Amino acid sequence: MTEGKTRVKVRRSMKTEILAMLQEETYVSGQAICNRLNVSRTAVWKMINRLREEGYEIEAVPNKGYCLKHIPDVITREACLKEMDTEWAGQNIIYREEVDSTNTLAKKLGEEGAPHGTLVVADMQTRGKGRLGRSWYIPKGQAIAMSLILRPQVEPQYASMLTLVAALAVSRAIDEKTGIRTEIKWPNDIVYQGKKICGILTEMSADMDTIHYVIVGIGINTGTIAFGKELEEKADSLFRITEEFIPRRILIAEVMKRLEYYYEQFCRTKDLSLLRDAYEERLANKNNQVRVLAPGNEYTGTCLGITKDGELLVRGESGAVQTVVSGEVSVRGIYGYV
Ligand code: BTN
Repeated sequence: MTEGKTRVKVRRSMKTEILAMLQEETYVSGQAICNRLNVSRTAVWKMINRLREEGYEIEAVPNKGYCLKHIPDVITREACLKEMDTEWAGQNIIYREEVDSTNTLAKKLGEEGAPHGTLVVADMQTRGKGRLGRSWYIPKGQAIAMSLILRPQVEPQYASMLTLVAALAVSRAIDEKTGIRTEIKWPNDIVYQGKKICGILTEMSADMDTIHYVIVGIGINTGTIAFGKELEEKADSLFRITEEFIPRRILIAEVMKRLEYYYEQFCRTKDLSLLRDAYEERLANKNNQVRVLAPGNEYTGTCLGITKDGELLVRGESGAVQTVVSGEVSVRGIYGYV
């Protein structure tokens, strides 16, 4: 079995079962649902009404049955599970309509023993956390805020690589589902044409030689239309780029699928040697001039790629190649944010 991997068997709820039936057939009779799920007509009727309240458009046609006309952009546990094509990543979903920060909730669940692969998803965050103590804005219903709990069986010094693993997964998932070509601003910002569309915040609980859990918090600007003065020049959203709404549950499931795959590759070698080429293909500024802003040591150089441990390789003006460790420094293109 892959390291850190625990299979999570999830029993599908009545709501998920009914949604699955409605998506499989054009018309599903109330009686067919009762028979399949072994529940009463009243229970079915109540659940259909609950789904309607959540925005599902379900028509009741006499002598034919229920017909699902429209699925809203819901990211409830059931809606996400329906799309999930993974063995363990995102198979145990905790959904909240509103939360202070999905990372904070995931940490609490991590302390309480939530299994590897548990995913916290929220429709809105009131105190989303960004890197370097910044805040992260998630408008209700217009973005993805999610945090994955991982329990890797590697020593704590390897954990920082998970943030690059996640960046690769998100970048590829976005491209797969939108047709655009995103890049990764080392170590883990996802950018498109110089603007940020996703940020990742990785947090860890560990002692000297054991990781208890790692939280990979991912914020994707899916449907945001206005960012406000400060962010307008630096940030963008998938809707503004493609002029199409991508259902968030579809993108969440695609990210989980790719993250599961890349995570397993990472666990095989405990480094990025199997992922380095794919990462470098998307590395913004590869072979370009960058400015490294290390405390007490700022310099300009050419970005060459990454090491198998996820450090950035920069050739300075003297010709010497330096390895830049994430967390210590910022790296900027010389003409702007990317
Ligand atoms: C960054 O500063 O670039 C990282 C932003 C990370 C934001 C996400 S949104 C989901 C998760 N919960 C949080 O509080 N933060 C991360």
